Amino acid sequence: MATSDAMHQQTRSLSSPRSIPAHAPRARAEFAAVPTNFYRDMVRGMRNGTVAITREGRVAVFNEEAYRILGLSPQPDDIGRHFGEVLGPRSEIVRLFANAFDVAHLPSRAEMRLKDSGRVIGYTLSIVRGERGSANGAALFFKDLTRVEQLEERERLRDRLAALGEMAAAIAHEVKNPLAGIEVMAGLLKRRVPDDPDTQSLLHDIIQEAKMANAIVIEVLEFVRPIRLQVDHVSLAEVIDDSIRMAESLVPRGTVRVDRLLPTDLPRLEADGHQLRQLFTNLATNAFEALNGYGRLSIRAWESADEDRPGDSPSIVVELKDDGPGIPEEVRDRVFSPFFTTKPRGSGLGLAIVRKIVDAHEGRIDLSVEPTGGTTFRLVLPTRPTDHEEATGA
Ligand SMILES: Nc1ncnc2c1ncn2[C@@H]1O[C@H](COP(=O)(O)OP(=O)(O)OP(=O)(O)O)[C@@H](O)[C@H]1O
Ligand SMILES: [Mg+2]
Repeated sequence: MATSDAMHQQTRSLSSPRSIPAHAPRARAEFAAVPTNFYRDMVRGMRNGTVAITREGRVAVFNEEAYRILGLSPQPDDIGRHFGEVLGPRSEIVRLFANAFDVAHLPSRAEMRLKDSGRVIGYTLSIVRGERGSANGAALFFKDLTRVEQLEERERLRDRLAALGEMAAAIAHEVKNPLAGIEVMAGLLKRRVPDDPDTQSLLHDIIQEAKMANAIVIEVLEFVRPIRLQVDHVSLAEVIDDSIRMAESLVPRGTVRVDRLLPTDLPRLEADGHQLRQLFTNLATNAFEALNGYGRLSIRAWESADEDRPGDSPSIVVELKDDGPGIPEEVRDRVFSPFFTTKPRGSGLGLAIVRKIVDAHEGRIDLSVEPTGGTTFRLVLPTRPTDHEEATGA
């Protein structure tokens, strides 16, 4: 009985304004005294981008985060100007505001990609209404989702790789033994027909093909095996030099010029040197293949504070840029996927392995294509990963 009484009282106190404590009116009076620039400061410091316009289309609010996300630099007379002039190059946002007062359903928690910068923003558009409901303006609140999107994409890729990896490992394992059998039996048969050059030649081809199939199986197994990093203090310059030599031994370099711009005072990386050699060998091999004997590969590196890991050890940014044919837009998203290749004898694992090694080092890699042709891979590697003992599953 007592419990039900208490519950009854609680319900009443939640729904009835009479239950507001006696000191509330005084608190309200104090609140009214909050200085008006409180709102301005609140908007300015918000961690959302905020842009608001008046009914006439003049910019009323444009906070710091909005400038940052949109990649615009603040001008002293922005407030009061027409939004089209201030937002000029960000045509997607201009269009949003231009239609703000006409659309039936205002977008809420919508997403869009800004064409120029490739950034993805999540946004909500609201109408600023006066007391009688008149539409006095429009306000856009937005957040930079680029990093979130990258993480989600990486997560999705990791899931895909895990499923794919298990299947590939099982198949590779099953295929290995019969392949070895074919090779051995073809060898035995070859010895039985010493005087039959035609049959000998056929058997030789069978053995070669079986060897190649076996090499692919080994590569797949290598790819799906989880990476366990053997961390050491690694000099990036040494790793890159070794990798260029290795790539040269795999693909004829021709007259390709390799420029390396690596500051002598770059900090050493706490990383797995062997894995990093493989990573840069794969990237350089791809560049040599794309350049087909002509052109230039330039490798630059510099130290940078990582904006995503404030307070952490610095990162090293490495950029590999070739002036080859570039990568067509429609396949750009797929080049890191395992088995994606445009080469007649490629396995399509090169960049998938690169991504896996970068992930294991808690780094990032992205790809951009130059308007003038050519491909740039940009890597960010923390000098000291936080968790380098952990094995990263495929
Ligand atoms: N520097 C580059 N220039 C142009 N295209 C590239 C470049 N790097 C990669 N690619 C494209 O990405 C695809 C995938 O590359 P990846 O290294 O994963 O596989 P692959 O080179 O085809 O085969 P593998 O490396 O296994 O021998 C390539 O087939 C090619 O189309
Ligand atoms: Mg490759």
